[in-house]
Amino acid sequence: MAADRDLEVLFTREQIASRIVELASEIRAAYGDEEILLVCVLKGSLYFTADLSRHLGGNVQIDFVQISSYHGRKSSSGVAQIRKDLDINIEDRNVLIVEDIVDTGVTLEHLVKLLETRKPKSLRIVALLSKPEARQCDVDIHYVGFCIANEFVVGYGLDFAERYRNLPYIAILREG
Ligand code: PRP
Repeated sequence: MAADRDLEVLFTREQIASRIVELASEIRAAYGDEEILLVCVLKGSLYFTADLSRHLGGNVQIDFVQISSYHGRKSSSGVAQIRKDLDINIEDRNVLIVEDIVDTGVTLEHLVKLLETRKPKSLRIVALLSKPEARQCDVDIHYVGFCIANEFVVGYGLDFAERYRNLPYIAILREG
């Protein structure tokens, strides 16, 4: 397929699925029987949230947030802003932020600061992918699927100009 010419598979659908089963098991063990409120960070975390939630078992709720990030442009104090806020009141709930990827950490830092003001019972983060080399903010990610090099990746929710999100695998997008 011509559109796949510049894609180098990094994680197959089987590798992703297998890692998510492990993550779900680790997370459920940490929370015991307690309810977990998954906060899916749109749009990229859509598939990860769907798959993770189905393996967590027990009492799981899901809500959505969308953030505009301005990383890559000039840095300023207003680097990120909420485009779609949560519907659910998170006070006294176990909140688990679900990210597809943590790159600079700008998005996550902003979201964590915001959600902390709402007094959740606990606030943790799970990220399928983490790019430690790209980090600009000191964010504490509690559960990480895979650490990757500083490459541009697409698929399994991750896009380039809104393309490739629906790939069932994760691939490095090379410049053609
Ligand atoms: C991506 C990704 C994270 C964020 C990570 O979202 O889903 O939310 O960037 O980057 P950072 O650590 O440098 O802040 P994006 O803003 O591309 O939106 P999308 O999920 O709708 O594609």
